Amino acid sequence: MEYAKLGATGLEVSRVCVGCMSFGIKDRGNHAWTLEEEDSRPLIRQALDAGINFFDTANVYSDGTSEEIVGRALADFTRREDIVLATKVHGRMRPGPNGGGLSRKAIMTEIDNSLRRLGTDYVDLYQIHRWDAGTPVEETMEALHDVVKAGKARYIGASSMYAWQFSKAQYVAQAHGWTKFVSMQNHYNLLYREEEREMLPLCADQGVGVIPWSPLARGRLTREWDTVSARSQTDEFGKTLYQEGDRHIADAVAAVAAERDVPRAQVALAWLLRQPTVTAPIVGATKAQHLDDAVAAVDLRLTDEEAKRLEEHYAPHGIAGHA
Ligand SMILES: NC(=O)c1ccc[n+]([C@@H]2O[C@H](COP(=O)([O-])OP(=O)(O)OC[C@H]3O[C@@H](n4cnc5c(N)ncnc54)[C@H](OP(=O)(O)O)[C@@H]3O)[C@@H](O)[C@H]2O)c1
Repeated sequence: MEYAKLGATGLEVSRVCVGCMSFGIKDRGNHAWTLEEEDSRPLIRQALDAGINFFDTANVYSDGTSEEIVGRALADFTRREDIVLATKVHGRMRPGPNGGGLSRKAIMTEIDNSLRRLGTDYVDLYQIHRWDAGTPVEETMEALHDVVKAGKARYIGASSMYAWQFSKAQYVAQAHGWTKFVSMQNHYNLLYREEEREMLPLCADQGVGVIPWSPLARGRLTREWDTVSARSQTDEFGKTLYQEGDRHIADAVAAVAAERDVPRAQVALAWLLRQPTVTAPIVGATKAQHLDDAVAAVDLRLTDEEAKRLEEHYAPHGIAGHA
């Protein structure tokens, strides 16, 4: 496994991050396709054995059960100081007032709830899952700074939003001497490259590490376009993200993979890994082979000509993944 600094920090993370949205109790939350605990644990162990030290979850995944499963497995299989544990806040955890969002009250409540579920007294990376238009950004950034100063998070990061929003949050933090975001977890893959317009140049300029979500377009880059899986049938959010013309890009991935005699997932991840701002794609694995491919992708070096073939069919998309 290769390791890289997360953006301009001194924090060393594996170049593959395990996406823990795949782990959780099926009938809790919105992800009917998740692996239950007994099926999740072997994958977490396999990732650790492969040298992966970076794990991403969220309070909202499977109603908190992703955090519980991941916390128990990591406690059983490794040492806390050896891993980089990331979680998120913003999603609605309870009906009624203050059950979600990025108010000071919500953040202070949710960090403690996440730490309890994860069975740890700090997370390495505490991320805001989305922008909260209903809370002043000053309130959010000061609360996140206080979480860091209380020793409950080592670093803070952000996820999908407009570049102007991210820039505004960083400016507010800097102006007050508060902790700034070190990472951007955004929607970026061969089918969705709108981030190349504003967000990625901003991150490059500011030394922010980029850790893309759904790097395989939720499986679409790994198989024939019309193939359905248990996940693709029930993944309601995933159905909103891509468009019919994207199949030509998936075909290009298939062609390069066939020439290289490697699975398509390796080609799609290798393309992301060659982007200069990308620290580590967050891979959603539900089978051992998925992790094997992610690890192998770190060593697969695409040529410029191959990259051009993968990129040439791209057509602009409407913004997808901020909601
Ligand atoms: N910040 C955010 O808003 C946000 C949003 C989404 C996700 N995330 C994070 O990103 C992580 C990854 O998201 P994701 O699961 O959508 O990512 P993904 O890696 O694009 O998709 C994972 C799916 O791709 C298929 N797959 C993965 N590896 C494969 C391989 N080697 N060969 C064949 N098929 C393969 C599987 O689909 P099948 O199960 O259908 O076979 C798997 O469920 C999440 O766990 C979460 O941590 C964050």
